[in-house]
Order: sequence, then structure tokens, then C-alpha cells
Amino acid sequence: MLLLAFETSCDETSVAVVRDGVVLSNIVASQVRLHAAYGGVVPELATREHLRNLAPVARRAMESAGVNAAAIEAVAATRGPGLPAALMAGYTAARAFASARGCPMLGIHHHEAHLYSPWVAGEPPRAEWDAFEPNVSLIVSGGHTLLVHVPAELRHRVLGGTIDDAAGECFDKVSKLLGLPYPGGPILDRLAEEGRADAFDFPRPLRNDPSDDFSFSGLKTSVRYFLEKRPGLADDPVALRDVCASVRAAIVDTLVAKTVRAARRMGVRCVTASGGVTCNLALRRGLEAACGEARLRLRLAPRALCTDNAAMVGLLAARKLGRGAVSDAPDLEADPGWALG
Ligand code: KG4
Ligand code: ZN
Repeated sequence: MLLLAFETSCDETSVAVVRDGVVLSNIVASQVRLHAAYGGVVPELATREHLRNLAPVARRAMESAGVNAAAIEAVAATRGPGLPAALMAGYTAARAFASARGCPMLGIHHHEAHLYSPWVAGEPPRAEWDAFEPNVSLIVSGGHTLLVHVPAELRHRVLGGTIDDAAGECFDKVSKLLGLPYPGGPILDRLAEEGRADAFDFPRPLRNDPSDDFSFSGLKTSVRYFLEKRPGLADDPVALRDVCASVRAAIVDTLVAKTVRAARRMGVRCVTASGGVTCNLALRRGLEAACGEARLRLRLAPRALCTDNAAMVGLLAARKLGRGAVSDAPDLEADPGWALG
């Protein structure tokens, strides 16, 4: 089945073409530079940019896959959660395309798409559904931090999530306090590679709490007080790198410890991770070391599919359609507050 997928839940306009579990193309138009001037995503600007980019990005996705619009047999789009008008733009464009073609159209939950992205590997990326095994999955990005139990393919239960800031949001807010450009997560990660993780002791909220929930806003506040007491510290390149490494260690330590603990408790043999923060070098190394020690298999989403993309949406939609999912009702709308069941 040849499927065209759309993703517009936040600040990336992405369209992908997938066929039989293989990603033929995955075009991502990032709006990072547009929002950088404001230090965060401006919803109104994001929507305008999606509307401007949707048609050309879809055209490029089909050209790069070497397929004609007339050959598309199914359509998918992220239906929620996310920025309301941004979701509406992509979901409505997908619906228009599907109804013009007279083919099925399936709305996909954004987090569920992340949840299965660790089961994609290779070049071109291919879904490895045969390799699937029950797992505990960490989804970490700018907008979400979730621990999910996946006992069987296409079945899941949320174990916990953040009660305040998401992990990526914490990386970005701390970076801003340090005067780094937006989005700071990747820059802080790079600087941290040259710093000492034990230079400063930052709090690890809820690390030892029995729940599977996370909290990162207290860590951000403690960094703010720490910097207020030491004016000029962030201008010292060595101290800056030490702060980056120490903050990163606090976030990663908490994520890794709670993920492995949940996996042990749920009795699974496999841990997976996805979402933008899964690009973080210390998180990748930390999960590898902890899973190795706990004799858990680890599957990380491929780097290119960690941040938001339509390929993960398309692969999941194709699997669901193949398993009997039916087309969304014609009056169904995007759902910005859609909770992962
Ligand atoms: O999944 P994503 O593209 O968008 C959301 O759905 O939020 O994730 C973006 C987030 C941003 O907060 C960004 O700073 C963070 O992922 N991020 C990182 C790294 N790369 C991306 N955070 C820490 N270290 C990284 N290397
Ligand atoms: Zn995401």
C-alpha cells in the first residue's frame, strides 16, 4: 500500500511517503529559525508557516519518492495532541487530499507515532514489526515526557509523565538562562560533552519517588537561583560547560533510573526511547549502560526520526490500516488535547 502521511503538530511541517513498511521519502521543513527570534514556538506563526509549506513539502515528498499523486492509496495525518491550529492545517490538508483521491484517511496520535519509532531501522528506514517485543518506552521531547508500557503491538498504557515541564523544555529553559540560542537542548548537549558532570550538584526531583512521574520545573528554578548567586559565571567558558554537563546529568540520571526501574517492575525484557531528547548523547549512553547492566534490550529511535516527522506517522498508519483500522469519519476533527490512552 502506498501511503502519504502528514505531521504538523508543532513547528515542523513534514510529509512522508511509505510503501509496505518502507519509508520512500520523509521531507521535514523545520521552523526552528523562524521561532528562534522569539525564544519559543509562536502558534500563530507556526500555523501560517504550515499553510505556506504544506503543498510544496507534499510535492517534494512525492517527487523524492518517485510517485505520482494519482498512485497514493491511503492518507494519514497527526490528529493530536499539539497546537490546535497547526494540527488543523495538516489534518485538513490530508483530508482534502484523501477525499479528492477517494482513499482512506487515518488520524494518528502523535505520541503513539513516537512510541513505535524505535521499531524502525536501516536505510531506507523500514518498520521492523517482526522484531517487536513487549517493552517499556520513554518518550521525551520538547512537549512531552512519558513512560509507557507496551505489552503487545498496538496496545499500550501510560505509566507516568511529567507533572510540569517536559524534559526537552527543561533543557531549552536552562539553555536560555545560560544565554544560549533557542532551541538550546542540542547546544547544551554539545557543550556538556566538554564539561564535568560532577562539578555541581543539581536536584533530581522525583528520581526516587515510587511513581513513574517526572518533574523538571524545580531543577530549572534551582539553576536560576544558582546563576543569580554567581553573576558572570555563564561567561566563563569552562564553568559554562560544567553547568551544562551537571544539569544534563541531573535530567538524564532521572530519566534513565525511572525508565529502567519501570521496565523491571513491569517484567519486560526491552526498553525503547523516542522523541527529540533521544538525540541527547548522555541519554543514549546512559540508557545503553543501564540497560546493559539490567540485561534489558534497548531500542532507540533512529536519530533522523527522533524529532517530529511524518515517516513515523505513515508507518504506524499503514500498520493500523493493514490490521483493519477504518478511515476517520468525514466529520472528525483534529483533537489538540487527545490523551494517549
Ligand atoms: O520531538 P521534538 O522535535 O518536538 C516535540 O515534539 O517537542 O523535540 C524537540 C525537543 C527540543 O526541546 C530540543 O531542545 C530537544 O528536543 N532536543 C534535545 C537534543 N536534541 C533535541 N535535548 C537535549 N539534547 C539534545 N541533543
Ligand atoms: Zn513529538
